[in-house]
Amino acid sequence: MFKVGKVEIDKALLLAPMEDVTDVSFRLICRELGADVVYTEFVNSEGLVRSNERTHNKLKIIDSERPVGIQIYGNNIESMVGAAKIAEAENPDMIDINAGCWVKNVVGHGAGSALLKDIPYLTKLVKAVVDSVELPVTVKTRIGWDNNSIQIVEVAKRLEDVGIRALTVHCRTRSMGHKGDADWSWIPKVKEAVSIPVVLNGNVLYPGDVKRAFRETNADGVMIARGAIGNPWIYLEAKEILSKGYIQTKIDDEMKIKTCLRHLGFAIEVKGERRAVIEHRKFYSGYLKGMHHASKIRNELMQYVEFNPISDLMSSYIEELKKTQYTY
Ligand SMILES: Cc1cc2nc3c(=O)[nH]c(=O)nc-3n(C[C@H](O)[C@H](O)[C@H](O)COP(=O)(O)O)c2cc1C
Repeated sequence: MFKVGKVEIDKALLLAPMEDVTDVSFRLICRELGADVVYTEFVNSEGLVRSNERTHNKLKIIDSERPVGIQIYGNNIESMVGAAKIAEAENPDMIDINAGCWVKNVVGHGAGSALLKDIPYLTKLVKAVVDSVELPVTVKTRIGWDNNSIQIVEVAKRLEDVGIRALTVHCRTRSMGHKGDADWSWIPKVKEAVSIPVVLNGNVLYPGDVKRAFRETNADGVMIARGAIGNPWIYLEAKEILSKGYIQTKIDDEMKIKTCLRHLGFAIEVKGERRAVIEHRKFYSGYLKGMHHASKIRNELMQYVEFNPISDLMSSYIEELKKTQYTY
């Protein structure tokens, strides 16, 4: 059971925090399609305490996406405490601490998965954040820094002791980045060691993976990252597999294209037309994947900076697809 504060969900499906991906618009789409809990992208604690406007904008949440967690990252305890308080003022359902990011410019500052190199310091930092806010605090981390230092069971126990309310484990080491198989076998070991909810993350790319993940590990939740990009139906399909044993809803091309436009529509409301349209370009390949003439349409979509021509092109594309009766 994923029980964190007022949120209580059996076999929870979570949308992972993803930089430049999990903004309000994508979180809303995933919630509509069955994600139970969503997270903001990671937000830099230093930017927050220095009142950087761009950083602060990343905290924006809206009621219809709840339950939602704000993820913060950093290395400095004072800044992380300050950032947690600033994030709390936005009233999310939980605050998540990033102890798993592998990228050089984060790790180079001692943040993200670099925190795994000094477990007493990680514990101290997490305790300081837990003690400074009323909201439940969760942590997302990796199984270890590298193959020679997999200490996730110890980390889980220490962090439970200082009061975190759930732990997400990306079942790779920092040195693996996003490559190689995630080793889910750590999840039962962690679950045996602690009584807080444990969420599995890593390599959950298809709806069937969700069922396998719950069956093999007894995780309290499964968190999906790349598998949801351009494919937010993964939540709906996974839930159908979990409840019925098969996928009942056929997601056709028209539905995919309309979801892509709806996603863009939400983004425009939040960020304004030009910025939203430009930032949405990265999603077309996912949404149009496998469709007839997709690359030609994608190239055309890249040229626009306004919604209307995109919407017109998509409408005529839907008609073209119907004529070719192309399905997959
Ligand atoms: C584009 C992208 C951005 C990411 N940004 C974050 C982030 O802000 N915070 C975080 O904890 N993890 C971040 N991650 C890692 C994912 O949350 C997740 O742990 C990782 O992709 C493994 O899950 P997957 O195999 O389902 O993709 C990011 C991953 C991707 C692909």
